[in-house]
Amino acid sequence: MKIHRIHFTTIDSTNTWAKQHAHEFDPQAMTLVTAGGQTAGRGRFNRQWVSPQGQNIYATYCVFLEKHRPDIGNLPQVAAISIVETLTDFLVNAHLKWPNDVVVGNKKIAGILSESTPLSDKLCLIIGIGLNVNMSLRELDQIDRPATSMLEAAGNPFEVETVLECLTKRLKSHSEVFLEESFVPFLETYRRLLNPLSGKLLRFHDNRSIHEGYYHSINADGTLNLQLPDQTIQTFNAGEFLP
Ligand code: BTN
Repeated sequence: MKIHRIHFTTIDSTNTWAKQHAHEFDPQAMTLVTAGGQTAGRGRFNRQWVSPQGQNIYATYCVFLEKHRPDIGNLPQVAAISIVETLTDFLVNAHLKWPNDVVVGNKKIAGILSESTPLSDKLCLIIGIGLNVNMSLRELDQIDRPATSMLEAAGNPFEVETVLECLTKRLKSHSEVFLEESFVPFLETYRRLLNPLSGKLLRFHDNRSIHEGYYHSINADGTLNLQLPDQTIQTFNAGEFLP
């Protein structure tokens, strides 16, 4: 798969731009939209994504899929695996928090905002990745949730472009496998990289209500089983654990 990259020094949000321009992208290729900084970076659940200039990765990867593929929600999980593997390449040890947050300990280092836009017979999947590379403690403190960066985790700064190259290489090759073979080749790695949360009573919201329960397991389709205090199992395909 070819990669077409579009770079902006500063933009409101690489995801917003990608959504507005998806109809111009080559459906056979992967389009990568990057920015040095974002003035209106967006996170999940309508949150802001703090996006200072020149310090982090702000990247949106766009891939075209058949409209009715039932595994569309797994590609962002594959992207999350690619982020953890990239961090490992730079000696930063990270885990996943279901469905696709990347954490070091209990602090978030990267997040994914995935969106989609239908285009004739296909769907353009827009996978926005924010990875904190060189943010200092002072800047991380502005984020209203526990957050970290590669600089804080490793104790030394990194070349943003070198990290992006590595991430893009991994995401490209994993996406090629995913398009052919779906989530099956990634399931074991995904389960292994998930933060070991067993035994702790967790709070979880699915955008409608808050649930309390214990982490139970991940199904083959990437959905989450939560064991509720009354021992029943509830399955979720979206949501997030509360800090
Ligand atoms: C999250 O809340 O965990 C998702 C954060 C996603 C941030 C990235 S930065 C690049 C892309 N553009 C955006 O506006 N958001 C995503």
